[in-house]
Amino acid sequence: MIRRPLNPLAGELNSILSKDGCMAASLLSERGLRAYFPHHGILGQGVDAKGCQINATLGTAKEDDGSPLHLKCLSELLAIPPASFLYAPSFGLPDLRKYWQQAQIEKNPSLAGVPHSVPVVTNALTHALFMAAQMVVGRGEKVIIPNYYWDNYDLIFTEAFGATFDAFPTFRGRHFNVQGLRRKLLSRGDKKIVVLNFPNNPTGYTPTEEEAEAICAVFLEAARAGKRIAAIVDDAYFGLVYEKGVARESIFAKLAALHENILAIKLDGATKEDYVWGFRIGFITFGMKGLSRDQLKALEDKAGGLVRSTISSSSNIAQRLLLAAYANPRYAEEKREKHATLEKRYRTVKSILRRHREFRESFVAMPFNSGYFMCVKPIGVDADELRSLLVSKYSTGTIMLDGLIRVAFSSVPTDKLESLFVNIDAAVRELRKKGGE
Ligand SMILES: Cc1ncc(COP(=O)(O)O)c(C=O)c1O
Repeated sequence: MIRRPLNPLAGELNSILSKDGCMAASLLSERGLRAYFPHHGILGQGVDAKGCQINATLGTAKEDDGSPLHLKCLSELLAIPPASFLYAPSFGLPDLRKYWQQAQIEKNPSLAGVPHSVPVVTNALTHALFMAAQMVVGRGEKVIIPNYYWDNYDLIFTEAFGATFDAFPTFRGRHFNVQGLRRKLLSRGDKKIVVLNFPNNPTGYTPTEEEAEAICAVFLEAARAGKRIAAIVDDAYFGLVYEKGVARESIFAKLAALHENILAIKLDGATKEDYVWGFRIGFITFGMKGLSRDQLKALEDKAGGLVRSTISSSSNIAQRLLLAAYANPRYAEEKREKHATLEKRYRTVKSILRRHREFRESFVAMPFNSGYFMCVKPIGVDADELRSLLVSKYSTGTIMLDGLIRVAFSSVPTDKLESLFVNIDAAVRELRKKGGE
């Protein structure tokens, strides 16, 4: 295979990222090292020509009066400025990036003063995960992960990037398995990649404040022992915490402040936080103790380059709609209302499980305290047979993952939740009876 020489712009970013003993470059994959934003290419030349009287640079189309060409049948649908029809910058709309950064600091007060980049807009979290993998995961490398994870991670980390998961059991008893994580972090090899997702899909679990402290303590122990760690933090369900004592801040805020050997990468977005699944707007943010503004900017440039090379830029109209929502005085109240809807479902599930003691003969409810989901482990029957029977006979749809039945209480009307669990209980009993016949 002929190896292409490194682009000088990528080389420049890499030397910024290794300046003064900085470990960031040493955590990058081959693709991460090759990533750069082409500031001097078409985009940069377009920026240079911005004020020109005649501007024949960019690949958009304009009316003779300079406004974007657009179809009325589209613009009539929404009260949006014609500029929404144009491309957004690859990095995302500057105002949206600034807003999101400020909002993250407000939601995660420990982030204030911690070196972190300005978020780069992605095509929602899936794309941000893909980019994080591009940045740090090399073929054949191991990725440490709790064993219950979103199944799309298989397609991204293992199928697309050839990594293997080095999984540890998510739970130890009814708690997050901090010791399991510790063992993996301290295992042989000095580069470690970890993926954490809280509130978790599929379990609906977020570590308690104490567990979050303990998780950070094992990261710190490993970093002090010489491990270089890329911590990928998937915050898709950020904010959906329903219990006191459960960590409300993203673990990213703590990890980014912890040690010069830990590069924390936060993936978050409007998808679930603002109930806009189809908008496809997410963010990727980097944090690492000791990083200078130049070094953070170098990571932003690499991310911008990866956006440019995959989707070019995220939806301008979706970014503008979100900016308008964030500026609307009703935004905060409406968000509280939606949070309350999900919290009510969560409390209803907890109460159903408390009241129906007979369910304990059919399934074990796994620990859950946040997010969209909870899981049950069926007793004495195959989880996939259970799922099939629930569909065919009980008209009840659930997801089977790793021997668990995942229930998305987020999408079930509150008054149907009891029937849902009654059906699971009945189906387990039916399968057991059949098995015993
Ligand atoms: C844990 C987790 N991360 C990421 C995503 C993807 O989010 P998005 O729709 O923003 O790509 C999901 C969606 O289900 C998820 O459960």
